[in-house]
Amino acid sequence: MRRGATRDNANGGTQLLDTAVQHPARRDDRTSERDRFAAIRRESEALAANLTPEDQAIQSMPDASPTKWHLAHTSWFFETFILGPLDRGYRVFDPAFVYLFNSYYEAVGPRHPRPERGLLSRPTVDVIGAYRDHVTTAMLRLIEGADAAVWREVAPRLELGLHHEQQHQELILMDIKHVFSVNPLLPAYQAPRPYALPSTAAPGPGWVEFAGGLHEIGHAGPDFAFDNEGPRHKVWLDPFRLRSHPVSCGEYREFITDGGYRHAEFWLSDGWATVQQQGWQAPLYWRQEDAAWRLFTLAGERPIEPAEPVCHVSCYEADAYARWAGKRLPTEAEWEVAAAGVALAGNIADSRFFHPCADPAPGTGEVALRQMIGDVWEWTASPYVAYPRFRPVAGAIGEYNGKFMSNQMVLRGGAAVTPGGHIRTTYRNFFPPSARWAFSGLRLAEDI
Ligand SMILES: [Fe+2]
Repeated sequence: MRRGATRDNANGGTQLLDTAVQHPARRDDRTSERDRFAAIRRESEALAANLTPEDQAIQSMPDASPTKWHLAHTSWFFETFILGPLDRGYRVFDPAFVYLFNSYYEAVGPRHPRPERGLLSRPTVDVIGAYRDHVTTAMLRLIEGADAAVWREVAPRLELGLHHEQQHQELILMDIKHVFSVNPLLPAYQAPRPYALPSTAAPGPGWVEFAGGLHEIGHAGPDFAFDNEGPRHKVWLDPFRLRSHPVSCGEYREFITDGGYRHAEFWLSDGWATVQQQGWQAPLYWRQEDAAWRLFTLAGERPIEPAEPVCHVSCYEADAYARWAGKRLPTEAEWEVAAAGVALAGNIADSRFFHPCADPAPGTGEVALRQMIGDVWEWTASPYVAYPRFRPVAGAIGEYNGKFMSNQMVLRGGAAVTPGGHIRTTYRNFFPPSARWAFSGLRLAEDI
């Protein structure tokens, strides 16, 4: 994904991309692959469609990138790793783009500094649109026309490139939200959409218990996964409980009201130092007006909704809240064991809310895990490190995930801005513990 301290969701690797996936794609249906490619490319453009060229050029902080950079970089991926090496008839759109739109691949060559992406008034949005069309047309021709031997090389790279583009779709929304949030006009990305409040019959938050013992986590099987999701391996867990729901805005407001941001005893040392340095008093995008809290969303600013999951908290804040509540964050192994069997459905980008929603489920009287998928990425207590026997591949594609395995924490479950088809219970997102611009929240755990 994203990062300097943060990953950038680029992938790449000259001759190496097919090893980026644990189980390279074995899709033989060219028609469905062509249609899927076209649909994912269109979706990126649809996300940018209600932004002006001025909106698309702004970089509001070093971690975030301009919309038009995302649109170009995702095209650079297909051009650099598929069309260039595998399509003999391909004509490079502009040789300068290799430098401008490489994100972090040392093996590919030098690149434009990440913090300076917002200085690129040229190429214009229109030129980047033409670049996208050029790459999309060439890719469609290649998907349809590649002979069997070439297709075997193209297919796994295409799979990775599509997942890469979907990662950047989430980043487009994260980053434009930050851009708009620093504009005193507080522009809205989209019109507000009515959201359902919980039925009065909905079961309130409760606890769901899980047995200890020997479990397995990690990806296995023929479907796509990033390399960092494997190998599948055994873990030992003590018995634990998970909260049925993510922590809500109303619950988190109690932490604020109780002086949570003023008492060092709730905070990790680095977290407390960050609170002091940054002057944090509430989650990112929260603003106090008189006695009430308002929050900025992609549909503009409005009062907080107490029942909806709290979002845009750092790992430090998530940990401090859990400590204040007398609980803790789950480990990523606990989260994944608990999530086994949950449906890969929820409030994700396909719902078009682009914001976490309160659980609208009608009550059944039964307490169960809710909102594991979608709404907010859930911080875990687990550092982002390699699973046992993980070995990054050589070359550029080994840079995709492996080189970011320090000083970051794992998040699970996807968020309201995560594209459909791009979330798994084994998916390991990661950010530095101080990061708040992802759609990140938390769920409590405790020992039994
Ligand atoms: Fe990327």
